Amino acid sequence: MKTLIVYMSTHGCTENVVNELKENLGSNTSIVNLKKNSNPDLKEYGRIIIGGSIHAGQIQRKVRDFCERNLDVLRFKEIGLFICCMYEEQVAKDQLKNAFPEKLHQYSKTEAIFGGEFNFARMNFLEKMIVKNVAHVKESVSNVDHKAIEKFARRMEKTYQPMFVLI
Ligand SMILES: Cc1cc2nc3c(=O)[nH]c(=O)nc-3n(C[C@H](O)[C@H](O)[C@H](O)COP(=O)(O)O)c2cc1C
Repeated sequence: MKTLIVYMSTHGCTENVVNELKENLGSNTSIVNLKKNSNPDLKEYGRIIIGGSIHAGQIQRKVRDFCERNLDVLRFKEIGLFICCMYEEQVAKDQLKNAFPEKLHQYSKTEAIFGGEFNFARMNFLEKMIVKNVAHVKESVSNVDHKAIEKFARRMEKTYQPMFVLI
């Protein structure tokens, strides 16, 4: 079965995570960056993984728009959802819940939080000020959960169960 990973990345962390996920998923996996193509053709894919990163509590607008626009098609696919973010535990879980439409959570088979990074080299002046003052972090740091990426890929490979079998 073919897999498509659809994502947005503001500073490059999610992009790296997506490449790592692709390596874990094998050769039948394609990637679409919503920044370059906001309307990918989903027809040939049985499995769709959607992800983005959290800034000021929100996932990128283009990720939400993609999900909402394609809900009717996505319900017949095997769905995986993930976010990259720096908060952990309950805050991260709330951010994941808030990132995707409620209906998509119902359709999804696998969801995960992959951690994130603060990359000062990629931030503008305002973003650096926010991170320094809100997160109290002064230099680049990476908190990517590589084990979670591996586990997510394994779960995706196991859980094929399209909706049309269930209804
Ligand atoms: C300006 C700014 C705001 C952020 N706001 C949040 C936030 O509200 N919650 C959170 O968990 N992480 C927050 N982060 C951390 C990002 O989610 C993290 O840097 C992530 O790895 C970014 O992924 P990307 O490089 O793919 O955009 C913020 C980072 C920046 C630079």
